[in-house]
Amino acid sequence: MGPTTVKSNGTQRLAALESISPQQSNRRRRVAVVGAGYVGLVTGACLAELGNAVVCLDNDARKIAALLRGELPFHEPHLLEMIASNHHAGRLAFSEDVEGGVRESGIVFIAVGTPKDHDDNADLSAIWNTAATIARGLHGPKIIVLKSTVPVETSEMFSAIIAENAVNPHQVDVVSNPEFLREGSAIADFMHPDRIVIGTSSPQAEATMRDLYAPLDAPFVITDVRTSEMIKYAANAFLATKISFMNEIANICELVGVDVKAVARGIGLDRRIGTHNMSPGIGYGGSCFPKDLRALEKTALGRTYDATLLRAVDAVNRAQVPRAMARIEEALGGSIEGKTVCVLGLAFKPNTSDVRDAPALHLIDALIRSGATVTAHDPIAIEGARAKTGADVRYCSQMYEAINGCDALVLATEWEEYASINFRMVRKLMRGNVIFDGRNIFDADDVAREGLRYVGVGRAKEPATPSRTPQSARQTISLNV
Ligand SMILES: NC(=O)c1ccc[n+]([C@@H]2O[C@H](COP(=O)([O-])OP(=O)(O)OC[C@H]3O[C@@H](n4cnc5c(N)ncnc54)[C@H](O)[C@@H]3O)[C@@H](O)[C@H]2O)c1
Repeated sequence: MGPTTVKSNGTQRLAALESISPQQSNRRRRVAVVGAGYVGLVTGACLAELGNAVVCLDNDARKIAALLRGELPFHEPHLLEMIASNHHAGRLAFSEDVEGGVRESGIVFIAVGTPKDHDDNADLSAIWNTAATIARGLHGPKIIVLKSTVPVETSEMFSAIIAENAVNPHQVDVVSNPEFLREGSAIADFMHPDRIVIGTSSPQAEATMRDLYAPLDAPFVITDVRTSEMIKYAANAFLATKISFMNEIANICELVGVDVKAVARGIGLDRRIGTHNMSPGIGYGGSCFPKDLRALEKTALGRTYDATLLRAVDAVNRAQVPRAMARIEEALGGSIEGKTVCVLGLAFKPNTSDVRDAPALHLIDALIRSGATVTAHDPIAIEGARAKTGADVRYCSQMYEAINGCDALVLATEWEEYASINFRMVRKLMRGNVIFDGRNIFDADDVAREGLRYVGVGRAKEPATPSRTPQSARQTISLNV
């Protein structure tokens, strides 16, 4: 990786990194990170930034080759710069030799994927595969740190697999240390976490983990491994619940002529509720909330508990895209067929190129099935989206090119650049006049001022007519007569 491969301005890079990096530690440890994806690369880069000697390992040879050429397989702000500077400083290496990399390191982080299997359980095949690799290459004592999101009991099973298969038995402590970073702000989240959860019953492993994270200013939550594993699922389930709760409230707001944005503020300022994760829209997506919620529900079901709340959270989320479709259809006069719809935003959230389980793609799929012609734009996620949707969508690198000639414009991901869209220009370019704001980022009056029709989520413009005469009013009338 040479200096020229970093595409951003060097001065900006240093300024940005200084603001997100705590003081570097002088205590260098040899760390391996298995799985060079979103979590693995951020973990590896940040641990190197803290002064450790890190090797990021992946069994995808093309991914490792790309990293060695200085290319990131996805977009994450500041990550490429942090990888490059630590690689140049000799603290960060990449290899497809997983067994060799593990052998050289005293601490091994596991950050392989744990996607949904065909039955909505967590697919742990990459986790077991890694356990087998570690057992084969064991040549000394190790601390294995499970960063991947794994169901309760996985860490204990991981320990058992290594104990049963190790060619050379050594002391191995398997620690649960779930990750809470968010794509799009992953480095800042890793460097400034709200808390660091460590699940272990080994005092030595606990001391090592505390030491490794000592440069970070965050409280430790030390638990047993099962509790730590559960904390991660409970956190994601709660965050998903907040979103579905607000979506449900938004859906009711639409029926009673109330603006959900004012409701969100009115309840969010109550500190017991809070203002975060309170924005309704076309639903949550990404590689974590949907699969983790389903996996937790499956964990419960496997122990004969029917997690009705979790099922409801998932059901509300799944209903948001069909609901958006119905509102777009209504605004278009009753039919989507033959209409051209422009979708702005493809990534599952802003500041990432990740389109895994992105609501925008579910919406595009529904639009195409309804007979619409779809044009689409995203600042950086077009390639990922194209790979999933195929040739049916006309992707445009320029936002206004995608809007040109459309009957309806749908905002699916709240990228900052869409918030300052010029509605006068939009009005000139569009054939129709429907603006569906799937993330409630536009000012309804700005839209209406240009003669466009604004439809938001939970933002009915007109107060609804009372659905029936209240009981008390009817009694009053009959008494007067
Ligand atoms: N992405 C997030 O925002 C996020 C946040 C918190 C936790 N997590 C959890 O972290 C874990 C990783 O998520 P991700 O988004 O980084 O996944 P990812 O798909 O981006 O990366 C996983 C990587 O592991 C590699 N891999 C798979 N099997 C391997 C093996 N046997 N040996 C070596 N490498 C192997 C893959 O090639 C891939 O590069 C998951 O459990 C996820 O739920 C993700």
